[in-house]
Amino acid sequence: MELKIIKTTEPRKRPTGPLGFGKYFTDHMFVMEYENGEWGNARIQPYQNFSLQPACSVFHYGQACFEGTKAYKNKQGEIRLFRTVDNLNRMNDSADRICIPKFDVDFVLDAIKKLILLDEDWIPTEPGTSLYLRPAMMGCEDALGVHAAKKYILFVILSPVGAYYANGLAPVKLYVEEKYVRAARGGTGHHKVVGNYAASLKAGEEAKKIGYDQVMWLDAIKHRYVEEVGAMNIFFVVDGKVLTPALLGSILPGITRRSVIQLLKDKGIPVEETEVDIEMIAQAAENGKLTEVFGTGTAAVISPVGAFRLRDKEYVVNGGEMGPIAKLMYDTLTKIQVGELPDPHGWVTRIK
Ligand code: PLP
Ligand code: COI
Repeated sequence: MELKIIKTTEPRKRPTGPLGFGKYFTDHMFVMEYENGEWGNARIQPYQNFSLQPACSVFHYGQACFEGTKAYKNKQGEIRLFRTVDNLNRMNDSADRICIPKFDVDFVLDAIKKLILLDEDWIPTEPGTSLYLRPAMMGCEDALGVHAAKKYILFVILSPVGAYYANGLAPVKLYVEEKYVRAARGGTGHHKVVGNYAASLKAGEEAKKIGYDQVMWLDAIKHRYVEEVGAMNIFFVVDGKVLTPALLGSILPGITRRSVIQLLKDKGIPVEETEVDIEMIAQAAENGKLTEVFGTGTAAVISPVGAFRLRDKEYVVNGGEMGPIAKLMYDTLTKIQVGELPDPHGWVTRIK
């Protein structure tokens, strides 16, 4: 397939002040369309609006999925993608779950590289910043019947970002959610489809009202086993061992999660993917055996959890501070990403 490149003649306004997360978008975007049974019309074009009819299927039935992955520019001027191919493969898995036709990963990866090089001077270089890539796919048939659309759009936009949470690396507070559920096995929780996020908003808003940053989800049946957090997977350090919920079909198989499990193994720190009973975690917090809790995600990186609330009791973790294992994971991961540490697992793709 040919890739057309249409360069902008009206560069966008550059960010001033703190970047925050996902507020600014670069000059160009990648788009391709699916019609008559194949992907085509691939182009890099100026960042712009879509023109969609009110009948467009994504507005009604949410047939859409997305990804989040990052590019880094280091002091030497290298531009480095972290495991982006894994994100594109995961997007194809998500697409398949909601009947969106898969795309050619090599072709899109190549287009992403060209897009980043075109907007290279938007990549921030201050510590803790990066270029966040947001690939997404959506059904775009103008029809109200509930069926898989016959037309789709795939696009990739780029956003220079800082920390995901407003308070940067400061520990977050989580509310253990027992009323609402995010996902059940057999549903779409382990894919990155947009409906998962809409379904999570109300619990998140209610938690925010009483002073918590996000919710910690429990399983849909027993409301007892920890699943994940709004935008990250979760790890607990109990009695010197790192525990994280196993992938049993309702949580996102995070790429940062997978990387952290590998890095823990590399460092000889015991780690187990298992069922994590929230009552056991609360008890471990009571008797001093729970020494750290942290989340992992592309946007969140490694995010320490300073406290969590289960029913009417709040448990403070590690005095509300980031613990040594979270710090080690943060330092190791971010240094591999920018090239200050070797990349023994071949996670980084240099594009410049
Ligand atoms: N869980 C959810 C629900 C997410 O949205 C994310 C973010 O992508 C994660 C976990 C972490 O996944 P990853 O490390 O692949 O970014
Ligand atoms: C990510 O970490 O990339 C995410 O997609 C999380 C969130 C912004 C939805």
